Amino acid sequence: MSKEIVLSGIRSTGNLHLGNYYGALRKFVKIQDDYDCRFFIADLHALTTNPNPADLHANVKKILAEYLAAGIDPDKATIFIQSDVPEVAEMYLLLNMHVGIGELMRTTSFKDKARKALGLSAPAEGDDDEAFEKQIIGSETNKRVNAGLLTYPTLMAVDILIQKATKVPVGKDQLQHLELTRRFARRFNSFYNVDYFAEPYDFDFGGAPVKVPGLDGSGKMGKSEGNCIYLIDEPKALRKKVMRAVTDEGPKEPNSPMAEPVANLFSLLELTSTPEVVKHYRDAYADCSIRYGDLKKQLAEDILAVTTPIRERINDILADEDYLRRVVKQGAEKARESAAKTLADVRQIMGIRKF
Ligand code: TYM
Repeated sequence: MSKEIVLSGIRSTGNLHLGNYYGALRKFVKIQDDYDCRFFIADLHALTTNPNPADLHANVKKILAEYLAAGIDPDKATIFIQSDVPEVAEMYLLLNMHVGIGELMRTTSFKDKARKALGLSAPAEGDDDEAFEKQIIGSETNKRVNAGLLTYPTLMAVDILIQKATKVPVGKDQLQHLELTRRFARRFNSFYNVDYFAEPYDFDFGGAPVKVPGLDGSGKMGKSEGNCIYLIDEPKALRKKVMRAVTDEGPKEPNSPMAEPVANLFSLLELTSTPEVVKHYRDAYADCSIRYGDLKKQLAEDILAVTTPIRERINDILADEDYLRRVVKQGAEKARESAAKTLADVRQIMGIRKF
């Protein structure tokens, strides 16, 4: 029996951080033996924020090395670069014919990124969507929200559907995009009256999808938030970042509720430490004996235990250009083979026929 297809990707916008690791990469490594895994580097998605060309290529290489250093084995999983599969670009055009601009504009990630592109602050409670939409359409400045940003979810849906993947390991922030992918798949099937695309789902081994918080007190860890701990961080820099994490004055009464910055530290501890360590600090918080300095020291060492072996492999792998070239060539060939087949079917279903 053929194995179920798993697909996931990471944008090439910089080094990988703990959010990418726990939300995605760690799962990639765990499942590569049991599924037909296809992991790629989303360089076309990275173009939506207009990186400079030299940075884009360097970032693709970095992520490739980080995938390999974290333990993805190119003999088990297909590793490829999104732009090496031109079939994706064509199917993106075709699928866009069935995607509404309204549903794209309502996507949370679009709103966030469009706000950033226009230099607007984060929305306040009760902010008016209509005013925001007018700003996007009527922006008179040289700041603009590019159409690629709007159609980002179409491209992501194509990545998944063109490989016929049904399981997609991602962090919590990508679930809305997956929901859209399922909607587009259903819409395509029903418009053409076919049963062609299966609906893909998140893949978390029964656990809840992860959201790795930042160390700055709120929200998620993210490159554009500037609050990341990177897999490549040297021990000294990493310890410094953790020691500087935002906390509060500490609990004054037993069993006090936890403020978000402290809860975030515990979330990180839960990901990186043993259950005994987590319990020790939770108990200390509950009886007010906790010292945040100790908690942070422990956290830094536990994070380093995860990142150090990966960091040590990254530079060696990066230096071996021939190996990197072989990996992506082999990956591109495999990824293109299945993509070409899907694209041929989709063209046929949509009525594009050869004379
Ligand atoms: P990207 O590059 O933003 O992030 C890559 C993966 O890392 C996860 N992630 C997190 N998980 C938990 N906590 C965090 N703080 C955190 N930050 C990032 C993301 O959820 C993601 O799984 N659109 C995708 C890339 C993509 C893709 C795809 C993914 C393009 N096509 C097809 C899956 C399938 C993205 O921007 O991820």
